Amino acid sequence: MHLDDHAKLSVAPMMDWTDRHCRTFHRQLSRRALLYTEMVTAPALVRGGATHLLDFGAQEHPVALQLGGSEPDELARAARMGADHGYDEINLNVGCPSDRVQSGRFGAVLMREPELVAECCAAMIAAQPLPVTVKCRIGVDDQRPAEVLPDFLSKIRAAGVRRVTIHARMAWLQGLSPKENRDVPPLDYDLVHRMKAAFPDLHVSINGGITDLDQVETHLARGLNGVMVGRAAYHDPATVLLEADQRIFGGTAPAPTREEVVHAMLPYIDRHIATGGKLGQVTRHMLGLFTGQPGARRWRRVLSEGASRPGADRHLVLEALGEVTRAAA
Ligand SMILES: Cc1cc2nc3c(=O)[nH]c(=O)nc-3n(C[C@H](O)[C@H](O)[C@H](O)COP(=O)(O)O)c2cc1C
Repeated sequence: MHLDDHAKLSVAPMMDWTDRHCRTFHRQLSRRALLYTEMVTAPALVRGGATHLLDFGAQEHPVALQLGGSEPDELARAARMGADHGYDEINLNVGCPSDRVQSGRFGAVLMREPELVAECCAAMIAAQPLPVTVKCRIGVDDQRPAEVLPDFLSKIRAAGVRRVTIHARMAWLQGLSPKENRDVPPLDYDLVHRMKAAFPDLHVSINGGITDLDQVETHLARGLNGVMVGRAAYHDPATVLLEADQRIFGGTAPAPTREEVVHAMLPYIDRHIATGGKLGQVTRHMLGLFTGQPGARRWRRVLSEGASRPGADRHLVLEALGEVTRAAA
């Protein structure tokens, strides 16, 4: 399957959330959805030599590395490092509104500098073989999205970008926290659909506020190429991912059950603990697996209370699963 087809459904890059353990868990729910790393900044890789930030497991493919930065040469070098590490795609963050990120001229503030973003993309494309994609907002602060977004898209397309994900709301960089900037500025899905119509040769994914596969299917049926889901995929991963391979990707193998997903994680958990890791580093991402099911609260409680105890291992996971089974009986 081509990477663009995997991008029909993707799990968004989320700092502190979509680490390698989370991605390994999500991969048990969907074999085909495209997964994104947390943002890694180009300076951390190139100047800081923090190559451990690139580590991931072969089971995570297809997986895209998200980079933050605004220096073309530095981003080019970071992109090459990502390609050497075996990622499937390099994505540039032009959507993240945090203060720290603004001061380094990363993220959403770059919506004001489409020429610079295009230069960065061209440098990353020239430096390595992987596709370079962009995740952006519809605009920032006092910008008029219907005017600036087409200009932004045409500039990055001219630089060689063929796929883009648009978070369908503005970022208001003055006065709102990053969290508020994911909820307060209103969603404008229609504008993203209009961009697809205006740029038919660009692979356009939509992001923001999408919570289930019905909504994913609606956006795809209206002509978009992909849908990226963030918070809902984290908090309620089964609703977003469990039937994705059948419903979105046309797979014929039956979807796994939640219980099978838990069992599929056990060998990974064993290896993680055997190499000095802690159970909670993996299970914290699994707390939402039974959301909406009988026993969901017991599952959460057993795992969140027990996972940090010394010696906690797969037995705790099986104990939590036993609670779910009992609640369902
Ligand atoms: C905890 C958290 C961390 C995030 N970190 C990033 C990030 O590193 N890079 C990025 O482009 N977006 C980041 N985002 C934004 C998401 O990728 C996504 O655009 C946003 O949550 C809207 O999608 P949703 O409504 O489906 O969650 C983050 C969101 C959350 C909740």
